[in-house]
Amino acid sequence: MQVAIDGPASAGKSTVAKIIAKNLSFVYIDTGAMYRACTVIARNHNLDYGNEEGILKAIDQDGIELKSENGEQKVYSAGKNISLEIRTPEISANVSQVSALPGIREKMVALQRELAGHTDVIMDGRDIGTTVLPDAEVKIFLVASARSRAERRLLDLKERGIHTDQTVEQIEADIAARDYKDSHRAVSPLRKAADAIEIDTTNLSIDQVVEKISEEIEKKS
Ligand code: C5P
Repeated sequence: MQVAIDGPASAGKSTVAKIIAKNLSFVYIDTGAMYRACTVIARNHNLDYGNEEGILKAIDQDGIELKSENGEQKVYSAGKNISLEIRTPEISANVSQVSALPGIREKMVALQRELAGHTDVIMDGRDIGTTVLPDAEVKIFLVASARSRAERRLLDLKERGIHTDQTVEQIEADIAARDYKDSHRAVSPLRKAADAIEIDTTNLSIDQVVEKISEEIEKKS
């Protein structure tokens, strides 16, 4: 069983995906973390975020590894745990430029398909239902108002202990800019798959979203 969850930034994808994966013993794969790791690698090598060839070489050198530790997905590169670093505002501000590079997408999509393998998997991102797992049995497109997504992002940063001086308005503007870039890039832009079910999470609790998606999975089981 493959479950694809797509949608704009901070719509609650990873929060609900993690809970459902735990409840159903599915493998959870956070594809955004992989593009964020590419961006950390580019920065660590002092590469321009548009330097596709340089970044691809640096990824080959450092590697990107997803490890499950105590049920949490951790990201490692060059032997270092970069799970917190990938969430910093600097990386969030530049990840869309790196993720729009066709060669980077090709490499990450191949890795994502390999990780999905033949196990039960729940994967979240922007192009899972359209490109990475086009045959997924369940496809969900999560949306929420820009303000509520900014509030969630601020809370998420606080909970992870990542300091930010940004106001909720600034975060909202950053999120809107990232969504625009992700929706307008040439290669597999953020788009709802024709067969995806759209859920607006603005006025729903986490439990309610989990329940709705679990019902869809149940129907296909
Ligand atoms: O999901 P998250 O907000 O962590 O994703 C970070 C960025 O990675 C997105 O803004 C987008 O540029 C990129 N991304 C992507 N395709 C995916 C997942 C994430 O392009 N499947």
